[in-house]
Amino acid sequence: MENIVWHPHKVSKEARSNLKSQKPCLIWFTGLSGSGKSTVANAVDDLLHEQGYHTYVLDGDNVRHRLNKDLGFSDDDRVENIRRIGEVSNLFVDAGLIVLSAFISPFTSDRRMVRDMLPEGEFIEVFVNTPLEVCEQRDPKGLYQKARAGEIKNFTGIDSAYEVPENPEIIIDTAELNLKECAQLVLDYLIEKKLLQKSELKEKTA
Ligand code: ADX
Repeated sequence: MENIVWHPHKVSKEARSNLKSQKPCLIWFTGLSGSGKSTVANAVDDLLHEQGYHTYVLDGDNVRHRLNKDLGFSDDDRVENIRRIGEVSNLFVDAGLIVLSAFISPFTSDRRMVRDMLPEGEFIEVFVNTPLEVCEQRDPKGLYQKARAGEIKNFTGIDSAYEVPENPEIIIDTAELNLKECAQLVLDYLIEKKLLQKSELKEKTA
C-alpha cells in the first residue's frame, strides 16, 4: 500500500442512505450448494424491492462468471472469492444499499473477515441449513452426481469441507419451510432489529 493514500468521500454513507430513507446492511447467506441460498435471497430481495427499498443481490454462480472468473474451488481460491465479494458487498453497503450476498462461503474465518469489515449490526449471517441429503436429492445443476462420480473435485460437502456457522443471526431450514416462510424469517429479523424503518426515516429527512 506504499504510495497509495486513501481519499475520503465528501458524501458520507449516512448521507447516501438517508437519501434512500433506509439503513444499509449486508445479509450474508451461507450454506451448501443447492441449499436454496440464492432462491431465498432473491425472494427477500423481491419483497424489499416491492416495499421501495434499494437492494442488490450478489451470488456465487453469477459473480464467478464475471468478476471472479479467474478463480476455481481450491481452498485458496475460495478464500480469495469471499475476500473480493466481501469487499464488493461492503462498497455497496457504503453506497447505502441493502445487500444480499449468497455464497457457499464454507470457512468460518472468511465469514468472520467479512463480518469484521462492517460496523456492528450491519452484517447479518443467514445459515441456510438444508441437510446435505436434501441438497443432493435436489441436485438442481447435476453437480452432486458429477462430484460423486469423481468428475468434479473439491466439491463442498463431498470432498471439501463446510464449516457450520456457530453463531448466525438467522438459521433457515428450507426442507422444513416453504419459500415464503423462509423469506419472512429474514424480514422479521430486519424488522425486529429496526433495520426496516422506511417511513420513519422518510419523516426525519422530510
Ligand atoms: S464458495 O465456496 O467459493 O463460496 P460459491 O458460492 O462462489 O462457492 O460458488 C458455488 C457454486 O459453484 C455452487 O453452487 C455450484 O453451482 C458451483 N460449483 C462448481 N464447482 C464447485 C465445487 N467444487 N464446490 C462447490 N460448488 C461448486
